[in-house]
Amino acid sequence: MSASFGIQPIGRFAGGSQPVKRPKEFACFSYDENHQFHLDDSSIQYYYPPTLGADLSKGFETFQKQDDSKDEHLDSLLKTIIDHEQKEGKKIDANVVTWRGMITKIMATPFETRDGFEMNATLYQAPSFIEESHRHKMESRANEKGPAKRRGPPLEVMQFWGYKFETLATLPKTWAETSRDYIEERENHVVNNKAQYCSVVRTGIGKTVMCLGGEVDAIWDSKPLIQGSPTNWVELKTSAEIRGPQDRDYFHRKLMKFWIQSFLLGVPKIIVGFRTRDGILSSVDEIETQSIPQIVNSQPNPSWNADMCVNFAGIFLEWLTQNINDEGVWRISRKPQSPIIEVYRVQDTGHGDILSEEFKNW
Ligand code: A3P
Ligand code: MG
Ligand code: MG
Repeated sequence: MSASFGIQPIGRFAGGSQPVKRPKEFACFSYDENHQFHLDDSSIQYYYPPTLGADLSKGFETFQKQDDSKDEHLDSLLKTIIDHEQKEGKKIDANVVTWRGMITKIMATPFETRDGFEMNATLYQAPSFIEESHRHKMESRANEKGPAKRRGPPLEVMQFWGYKFETLATLPKTWAETSRDYIEERENHVVNNKAQYCSVVRTGIGKTVMCLGGEVDAIWDSKPLIQGSPTNWVELKTSAEIRGPQDRDYFHRKLMKFWIQSFLLGVPKIIVGFRTRDGILSSVDEIETQSIPQIVNSQPNPSWNADMCVNFAGIFLEWLTQNINDEGVWRISRKPQSPIIEVYRVQDTGHGDILSEEFKNW
């Protein structure tokens, strides 16, 4: 049993047609600084502008880095859904349950000419549960290292810059509850990426209703009292300074992932920390997520198009939910540079490791 979905020609995804729902948060969870799970918003961070001129490499030696070699599957998302369903006394109504990162990969597909992806999916009491293939993720990671003799800072240090920027631009409490000293000392704080705040939203593209979980970096002011009201979330990103037209094109290509990622969870604002080639924070820009499609379209040869990402996802997800129609474990795979996405069954029965015992037994 296998089916394939043609990505080309992408022209057929042009124009605005697939309806989208506004993402609404209905639950959340946190990992603390030891990556322990909590069913609350304790790890929420508050945005406070960073001091320019900071060295993003400072503190690399003491980085408390999350070991992601272990496959966490959908466990934390499922725990949060169990709690919600128990409180509500009814099941969620989604067609697809997954991490935001999976739908980001799907939406980017028409314009992603290099990387492939591999996901596992299983049907359980109506929704399809989709997770990233951990083996594939680890293999791609190993291939990322690139040529041994590349110029510039080591890749591990460059990856640290993103987390360092988060530490420089956030506070664990609101500005009003934070001392001046704390704010000024942020440059010396230990960087720890084990802690996260994750939002769980109900959203939809086309006919597909989705329950998505994903990390949100910070909040501009504070969470509204009524859950699900629009929230001033902030996504933090770092990027190389723009020195000319080539850098600008490169940045506009990066904006696609920034936009998709933020669009899916309903994050209205992206704060970009621009850095020099050797990792000094030189400026900070605030970009409204909803303005990004227009920013990119106003260029002579836009490298991607937001309507096409949405339409592609709407049509593909509908096709996917029609094709994942029986028990067992399914593979959703796009090989690097491939013009097709393949869906086939890898196990005839059961749910593999996608669903936790806890989730199946509640
Ligand atoms: P930057 O995005 O500033 O480079 P996110 O932006 O999704 O909140 O992720 C925070 C940081 O995690 C990133 O900062 C980057 O340092 C690191 N990161 C995220 N995804 C990554 C990936 N696929 N490979 C390497 N590093 C990644
Ligand atoms: Mg993040
Ligand atoms: Mg970020």
